[in-house]
Amino acid sequence: MDKTIINDKLNRPLRDLRISVIDRCNFRCQYCMPAEVFGPDFAFLPKSELLSYEEIERVAKIFVQLGVEKIRLTGGEPLLRKDLPVLVKMLSELDGLRDIALTTNGVLLPRLANKLKEAGLKRVNISLDSLNDELFGSINGRNVGVGPVIAGIDAAKSAGLGVKLNMVVKRGLNDSEILPMAEFCKQKDLELRYIEYMDVGSTNGWRMDDVVTKKQIFDILQEQYEIEPVDAAYYGEVAKRYRYKGTNTNVGFISSVSESFCSSCTRSRLSANGQIFTCLFNGNGHDIRDFMRQGATDDQIISRIADIWNHRGDRYSDERTAETRANRKKIEMSYIGG
Ligand code: GTP
Ligand code: 5AD
Ligand code: SF4
Ligand code: SF4
Repeated sequence: MDKTIINDKLNRPLRDLRISVIDRCNFRCQYCMPAEVFGPDFAFLPKSELLSYEEIERVAKIFVQLGVEKIRLTGGEPLLRKDLPVLVKMLSELDGLRDIALTTNGVLLPRLANKLKEAGLKRVNISLDSLNDELFGSINGRNVGVGPVIAGIDAAKSAGLGVKLNMVVKRGLNDSEILPMAEFCKQKDLELRYIEYMDVGSTNGWRMDDVVTKKQIFDILQEQYEIEPVDAAYYGEVAKRYRYKGTNTNVGFISSVSESFCSSCTRSRLSANGQIFTCLFNGNGHDIRDFMRQGATDDQIISRIADIWNHRGDRYSDERTAETRANRKKIEMSYIGG
């Protein structure tokens, strides 16, 4: 398939599309959807506002024509969207796509992993912030223990999906879990990525002091293990990866705060209600849903997306200062899927 390659103002090509399929979640992680804010009365998107699977497929196909090679499905919790394997199948049949992955909290994987794999999903990134039931239950805000997530990890592995684990590290909350998580993942030959806690949205009360940096985590690991750098798996990979010496097991760091990676950011995001965001830290998106619903042709949609990307100059993590943080309206993590 012939692709039209487009670059943004900083000469970054469009390569990845993160599609949020739902803004709801069955967890209330403190750093993402604090229960005090996302309570019983919180106004989530009604179904009529969500893009249908046909609409998602149409936009995704256009993104692929414009250079996208990898699609990641996110949420909220994407597995809460009804019949998700149907969408995965539609997307996996798009010509010109190299990778299709999903980010999830894992608890619905025992029910869905085989169906997702059969539909063409290649891999899942599963979030797990602690191995301690009590601590994990308090972080996820729903008192869910570690068992259901481990069952999800095992189900994904048995289904033949690639599996990585994501651990957001917040100082004083779960930094005591850095080594236990490393040991658990090493034993199970799972790639663990430590994620610096980010100031996404405006509800999680983020403070710089809460961030445990890549270097600090790295130093803790190095006291226990010998690790060596590994080449990036793809251009613009978010995680910096290392390997435990003498093994094939990798461990990664996502250092958006202390070592930003905006210069190679090739990611666009599509929200569940059809808004395009060119940075995780944008306040407003560009509508594509109503444009489609009003009868836009494929050519018109291609021009609109190309125009949005051509005008993109985002590099929030490079520029993060107290001032940029204070003066910026930012979308919530659960709405845009990380
Ligand atoms: P792989 O395809 O396996 O490399 O996944 P990924 O790391 O791109 O995706 P995942 O959804 O697992 O995200 C892991 C963490 O990286 C989350 O905390 C995301 O919010 C963060 N992340 C992903 N992309 C970006 C980005 O463009 N900017 C920033 N600042 N953080 C990002
Ligand atoms: N900072 C860093 N990572 C976060 N995630 C959710 N909120 C934050 C935050 N404030 C992670 C989730 C999931 C991924 C999509 O983003 O744990 O693994
Ligand atoms: Fe849900 Fe993931 Fe946010 Fe936790 S981090 S509340 S699992 S979307
Ligand atoms: Fe890309 Fe924005 Fe993240 Fe920088 S902060 S890597 S531009 S999404």
